[in-house]
Amino acid sequence: MKKRLGVNIDHVATLRNARGEKHPDPYTVALYVLKAGADSITVHLREDRRHIKDMDLKILTSNKLIPVNLEIASDLKMVKIALKNKPSFICLVPEKRNEITTEGGLNLKKNKNKIKKILEIFNRNNIRTSLFINPSLQDIKLSKTLGSKCIEIHTGKISNQIKQNKNYSRELTKIKKCAIYAKNIGLEVHAGHGMDYKTTKILNKIKQIKEFNIGHFIIGESVSHSISKVVKKFVKILR
Ligand code: PXP
Repeated sequence: MKKRLGVNIDHVATLRNARGEKHPDPYTVALYVLKAGADSITVHLREDRRHIKDMDLKILTSNKLIPVNLEIASDLKMVKIALKNKPSFICLVPEKRNEITTEGGLNLKKNKNKIKKILEIFNRNNIRTSLFINPSLQDIKLSKTLGSKCIEIHTGKISNQIKQNKNYSRELTKIKKCAIYAKNIGLEVHAGHGMDYKTTKILNKIKQIKEFNIGHFIIGESVSHSISKVVKKFVKILR
């Protein structure tokens, strides 16, 4: 089974916004990402618009050759924006104003009526639906009941364990069990958050996981890898 890679380009916008100018441009980067073999572009339109802005979403989704996976909070204002821009995929994520990044999965139990209603809207509009959840069998069962077509398992905990050289076997077993169960009940399984090369190699062994969404590490690694090329260009200009 071919695994899909979605690249989250939020932090290209973070870098651009640091200067309030146009460079680096998320749209240009999205084209490079797809040319390099990735399958989709993920962006999270946050309530505070700290990275991706409405205009970025508009520009990205106006090119119908770009499969855009839009992450949004379970909020009707966001649903309206999503419907206007028509991304290929939607992933509902929890959102806290003061968090640095998405810290965990959705609280499905608490928000089930709202989430069910939002999933119905996107399913009706032929936009693939996904819920960002913790690796929990209960949440997977509920995701199916609420009408989601996919789930994305939050891999933050195992990623941290792997990076810190801690024992991750319990978390890996849990994720594996969840992926098998989700696939068996007809959900497509995705995974993401905090992943790097090592985490990806480990989780890629779970064959039920069809798609990985990776952001921060790819952007950071791209800077580290490409800086010598760019510096050489400047040295050539100057000497
Ligand atoms: N998947 C989801 C649902 C996310 O919200 C994020 C970003 O928080 C990612 C994947 C990518 O995480 P990271 O940037 O840590 O790779």
